[in-house]
Amino acid sequence: MIPSDCPLVVVGATGAVGREALAILEVRGHRADRIRAVASARSAGSTIPYAGSTIPVTEAGPASFVDCKVALFCATSDIARTLAPAARAAGCAVVDNSSAFRAEPNVPLVVPEVNGAEVAAAASPAIIANPNCSTILLLVALEPIRKRFGIERIVVSTYQAVSGAGAAAITELKTQATDMLAGREPRTNVFAEPCAFNVFSHNSAMDEATGLNGEEKKMISETRRIWHDANVEVSPTCVRVPVVRAHSESVTMTLVTPASEAEVRQSFEGAQGVFLIDDRKANKFPTPLHASGTDIVFVGRLRADPGSKRDAQGRTRNHCLFLSGDQLRKGAALNAIQIADLLFAK
Ligand SMILES: NC(=O)c1ccc[n+]([C@@H]2O[C@H](COP(=O)([O-])OP(=O)(O)OC[C@H]3O[C@@H](n4cnc5c(N)ncnc54)[C@H](OP(=O)(O)O)[C@@H]3O)[C@@H](O)[C@H]2O)c1
Repeated sequence: MIPSDCPLVVVGATGAVGREALAILEVRGHRADRIRAVASARSAGSTIPYAGSTIPVTEAGPASFVDCKVALFCATSDIARTLAPAARAAGCAVVDNSSAFRAEPNVPLVVPEVNGAEVAAAASPAIIANPNCSTILLLVALEPIRKRFGIERIVVSTYQAVSGAGAAAITELKTQATDMLAGREPRTNVFAEPCAFNVFSHNSAMDEATGLNGEEKKMISETRRIWHDANVEVSPTCVRVPVVRAHSESVTMTLVTPASEAEVRQSFEGAQGVFLIDDRKANKFPTPLHASGTDIVFVGRLRADPGSKRDAQGRTRNHCLFLSGDQLRKGAALNAIQIADLLFAK
């Protein structure tokens, strides 16, 4: 675990992920005087409430990392590429939430519940990439099943909260909802489409040749990289829904070894970071509202795929589930802090 007196920097401390990182550190009792909060020049001079006091925000630059041991990067890829070398030159380990280093072969891409052991192999001072939020939630939910039966194909549809696009998107959803309820035209800024009372294809860039958007490409490439399985087939469809925070995903998977529904269910017993909410009688299953603000990926709607044949023992290779998890926490800030914890264990 990161010692509570470890000097650390949060880059992008004023954003949706940066604020969540500070909230987690606060609950853990990390000393305020050991945290440097940095952001753009726009935020320099402001303060962030922390543990009954405030932390001043300064402008990010190479000097931000002097005498610090860990830098949690919660800003854009450009900023990560510009400032991560300065952080490492100052002897500061980097955990980056952006996509800047995710494809670099010498940078581990880590979900602690899945491939946390890779942190130990990182160069020193380390640079570790936090995977894409939808991929983290998916792989935490699937790990108990993968460990026991293997997985060779995933078909996944996401229901992604607007806060995945940053703090400004939360404001956009609230403002649009207010305007539309008052009969006013919604104004768009972060998203091209109105996000209130609407569902639309993920806002990342669409590749005209493949028909895949950027989020879908990340889910494919990052799953393969984290699992070290270039052959796993991943078929994602990523969309935004009018939810403030916590992503949900509907998943159908093909196992390597056939399993009964009961065997798949059993694989979740004692699993790390996952909790089953699967009450068919009460029609109670994971929701993003329930997952918001929590550290757990909630899984439910576990069922053998009704469209596939079963053997005499009721086993099939095709199974379905639904998940909800807080992408600002487990999909970003919490996963990054857990990676930093592993660096200290190392
Ligand atoms: N949101 C999610 O659910 C999520 C999940 C996984 C990964 N991520 C990734 O995490 C990163 C942060 O996302 P976010 O949602 O927190 O975005 P955000 O709410 O828009 O926050 C962006 C942060 O970056 C800071 N920043 C902007 N320009 C800067 C500069 N020149 N120098 C230093 N800091 C600067 C901003 O500071 P100002 O306030 O001063 O502008 C703000 O603190 C992104 O790479 C994103 O892709 C996000």
